[in-house]
Formats: sequence, C-alpha cells, structure tokens
Amino acid sequence: MSSLANKHILLGVTGGIAAYKSADLIRRLQDLGAEVRVVMTSAAQEFITPLTLQALSGNPVHTSLLDPEAEAAMGHIQLARWADLILVAPASADFMARLAQGKGDDLLTTVCLASAATLALAPAMNQGMWRNPGTQANLQTLQARKVHIFGPADGSQACGDVGPGRMLEPVQIAIAAASLFQPGSLAGRKVVITAGPTREAIDPVRYISNYSSGKMGYALALAAAEAGARTFLISGPTNLAVPDRVTRIDVTNAQQMYDASLQEAPGCDLFIGAAAVADYRPVTIAAHKLKKTHSDQMTIELVKNPDIIAAVATLQPKPFTVGFAAESENLLTYARTKLQQKNLDLIVANNIATEGIGFDSDDNAVTLIDPNSEQELTQRSKQQLARDLIALLAERLPTQQ
Ligand code: PMT
Repeated sequence: MSSLANKHILLGVTGGIAAYKSADLIRRLQDLGAEVRVVMTSAAQEFITPLTLQALSGNPVHTSLLDPEAEAAMGHIQLARWADLILVAPASADFMARLAQGKGDDLLTTVCLASAATLALAPAMNQGMWRNPGTQANLQTLQARKVHIFGPADGSQACGDVGPGRMLEPVQIAIAAASLFQPGSLAGRKVVITAGPTREAIDPVRYISNYSSGKMGYALALAAAEAGARTFLISGPTNLAVPDRVTRIDVTNAQQMYDASLQEAPGCDLFIGAAAVADYRPVTIAAHKLKKTHSDQMTIELVKNPDIIAAVATLQPKPFTVGFAAESENLLTYARTKLQQKNLDLIVANNIATEGIGFDSDDNAVTLIDPNSEQELTQRSKQQLARDLIALLAERLPTQQ
C-alpha cells in the first residue's frame, strides 16, 4: 500500500498546459498522507492561479524569490529544509534546462539548488521538445545527478501532436512519489528484464523485426524499480524513455540481447523475458545494399538465434525465470510447451489475436501459467498489469539468504 504519511512535499509547478493537473496532484498526494506546499514559476501562473493551489494545499503558495513578506514567513532556505521531496510537476523543457545548468534564477530553481531533499520531475512538453537532443542531454545530466524522472507518457497532446511528452496522470505521479520512500516488495533484489523487438540486419539498410513497442517490458521495469529492485532493462530499439531508477542497456539484435542478458543475469533474483526476440537472423549480412534483380523472387537464408531465456534458466543458481508467450492461436497449449521446453518458472501468455492487447497496445490481458496452476489477469493498462504482476512475482521469489 502506497503511503506518504507525514512526508513534506514541496510541489513545484512550471509553465505548461499540464499545470491544471497540479491541482488534482495536490489532492492525490494528500490522499496518501503528505503535507503539500507549492512553489510556482511565473509561467505557471499563466496557466493556473496561485489561489487555486493555495486553497487545495491549505498553505500559502510561494511565487517569488524577492518577496520580503514571503521570505519573512517561510523563505527559500526554510522551504529547502522543510521538504522531504521536491516534486516538480509539470516540469517544462525550460525548467529542466535551467536545472541541468545549475541555475538559480527564480524561487523554484533556487530551492532545488539549496535543498538536500530528494528531487523528482514529471516532465510535460510537446513531443518534439521532448525528443530534442538538447532536452535529452539535459535529461541525462539530471538522471546522472540522481534526479528521479516520472514519465513522460506517450499519447495525444494538447497541441494535437502524438508522441512522448504527456505528463503522467496525478495518481501515477503520487504513487511514484510514494515509492521513493518505501522499501518495497523487491527491496534488495536484482531484476533483469528484456523488452522490445530485435532487429536482424539483412544489409546496411534493411532488417527483419516485429511490432513490439517495448511498452510491456518498460512497464515491468518501472514496476520493479518502484518495488525497490535494482532493475536492469535490456532493450531492443524503441522510442520509450528510460523509466526512473532503471539501468537500461541498449541492444539491437538477438545476439547482443543474449550477450547482455548473460552478462547481467548471473546472481539476479528475477529474470523476465518480455522482449519479442527474432527466432532467426540472416546467415550473412550483405556488406552493401542489395540490388533489385530481374528475378521476381528473392531468398534470404536464415539461421536460428540463441534462446536467451532458455540459457538464463540453465544458470546455477537459477534466477526465478519468467517468459512471455504471444500467440494468435492455441494460446495456453503453446505457452505451456514453451514453459516446459525453456524450463521456465512461469510464463505469461498474451493472446495477440484479441484487439487492443498485446503488441504495441496500451493494455494487456494475460494468463499466468506455472507447472501447477493458471491465473488470469483481465484486461488493464500495461502499467497496472506490470504492477500486479510484479507484486505476484515478489511473493513467489525464494526468501533471501
Ligand atoms: O512490446 P509490446 O508492444 O508492449 O508488446 C508486448 C509483447 C506482446 C511483445 C510481450 O508481451 C510478449 O508477449 N513478448 C514475448 C513475445 C513472444 O512471443 O515471444 P516468443 O514466443 O518468441 O518467445 C517466448 C519467450 O522466449 C519470450 O519470453 C521471449 O522473450 C523468449 N525468447 C524467445 C526467443 C529467443 N531467441 N530468446 C528468448 O529469450
């Protein structure tokens, strides 16, 4: 159960359309037991009034570094000391840039500089701004300084664009904030997760791949990190941001995913194979772009890729090893066969013939199969499913020595 009981949260609100969600966020943080004070940038006040956030938080809202009255009541240094967590939501691209540069040019950046509290940001911006190399460089700088990043989510945006940059929903941010204070059901555990597709090169411009977006594996990585695990995400090519507190290892093809997995898996407690790994790769990769010929047909000879999860399941001691099976027919039978053949402890079967779940969807519905039982998890968001699955897996792990 998430809790922020007796925690002091300083909510920073910066300029962006998602600022209206900060009002709800205050409520969600309070629901979990937090006391909330608010600092707004001047741009934030263009989107929502301090009065609204003052009424909801029950405390005066701080807006200016150079306000003698406010400084006399609770100045920036006192605010910096008061906070257990500084949570900036929404965090604009401009705010992230100023924070990354170590600037103290307004009250919020100054409090961040002065405070020893944990710092977390929920970015919200247009997808182009989020993808911009400048923002991504700032993100990396902040992550390297152990700033927690919640989101952003992917989807339709206020400006009409579709892509990454939407602020997470207030309830998700509140849960993520609470997880920073909890030891969690996977505290002290190491979890390794594969996610996304692999790409098997044909020539310098073509490859064999599949429709996996990585959403399921990334959601699992976030849920494992929220549960307190040291989490490693071995990811094929995706457009997703690294989840907060997760170490991502980028790979392109199945052999690289195999190498990275066998590097990280020894000694881990839980290994989850959510990736859609190509079963076969071209025997040879052409050095130059293949040219069209007069023939109507072309044959590419393929060779089997190594089975990553089956190799992990042979390790001694064996990590608790969980596979996924995406099937369009005979779901449970095929999944059970994979469970046995790969010597897995559990397999998560998803029916990709059902619309709205499986590859590249935001939802999933699965059946968990182990050698003795089956359990259905009905359709829900991949994020929720991941949390539910991680909670169930945490109960099944052997107790730590
Ligand atoms: O990424 P998303 O768009 O969110 O979609 C999620 C998903 C549908 C890809 C995911 O939920 C899923 O089902 N992943 C497994 C896809 C699959 O069918 O895998 P498979 O049947 O080829 O393999 C079974 C298991 O063995 C999987 O855990 C797979 O990661 C693993 N495997 C397969 C081949 C191989 N060479 N090495 C492996 O480790």
